Amino acid sequence: MAVALVTGGAKGIGAGIAGRLARDGWQVVVADRDPSGAAPAGGRYAVCDVGDEASVAALVASVAATEQRLDALICNAGFMIRKPIGELSLAEWGSVLATNLTSTFLLVRAAEALLRAAKGAVVTIASTRAGMSEPNTESYSASKGGLVALTHALAISLGPDIRVNCISPGWIWTKGPEPTEAEHAFHPAGRVGRVDDIAGLAAFLVGPDSGFITGAEFVVDGGVTRKMIYPD
Ligand SMILES: NC(=O)c1ccc[n+]([C@@H]2O[C@H](COP(=O)([O-])OP(=O)(O)OC[C@H]3O[C@@H](n4cnc5c(N)ncnc54)[C@H](O)[C@@H]3O)[C@@H](O)[C@H]2O)c1
Repeated sequence: MAVALVTGGAKGIGAGIAGRLARDGWQVVVADRDPSGAAPAGGRYAVCDVGDEASVAALVASVAATEQRLDALICNAGFMIRKPIGELSLAEWGSVLATNLTSTFLLVRAAEALLRAAKGAVVTIASTRAGMSEPNTESYSASKGGLVALTHALAISLGPDIRVNCISPGWIWTKGPEPTEAEHAFHPAGRVGRVDDIAGLAAFLVGPDSGFITGAEFVVDGGVTRKMIYPD
């Protein structure tokens, strides 16, 4: 059975991707720093801080020892700190970069041999914030911009054995109050995004029908970044 490793899969988009892949017949390993998470039925849950080199090494070693192969790696774990730059400490900046960007370097480096052996695929989860920003989000935007660039660099270095693609979601509702009618209507697609919108594309990108796609960024935002906005 093909094996997929999904980071940040305790909840939100990662949990949606893990569930979708499990339903599609993948054996799924979910890695998250939250010790209270769970894998979908038939899968395995591993506690891991993806920004920590030793933790990632132990995770990939456990996959090599337990599942003994790796066909798909979904680098999804990420978080945001919103703070004016004058109040953002170097440690906070570093923690966002470590989880959102350096983690993909650590994971792919550790898993390269397994992924090459399987002729596997990597999907990174960036953000439309790689290309546009709200105030006070410097570390997050920088990490996601870096992740888009790291994706195409990896695709060139690791092809043709390993394909590497990026999904940049817009607003995907995973928590907080339900979006308002106005928030849905703001989107050219008529609604805010759902976890399944990202999970379906991730499943396609690690599957056999995407064999000619590598180094690409897929913006999944209901059209928001194509919408021209002027003041009233
Ligand atoms: N939800 C959105 O609107 C949206 C939009 C664009 C991009 N994204 C990106 O999608 C990904 C998932 O977002 P989400 O909304 O599902 O977030 P979420 O907060 O619901 O889930 C993120 C998961 O990642 C885990 N995590 C965080 N840091 C980790 C670390 N260092 N090591 C291991 N696990 C860690 C958390 O424990 C959590 O389970 C993130 O990379 C996020 O930046 C989300």
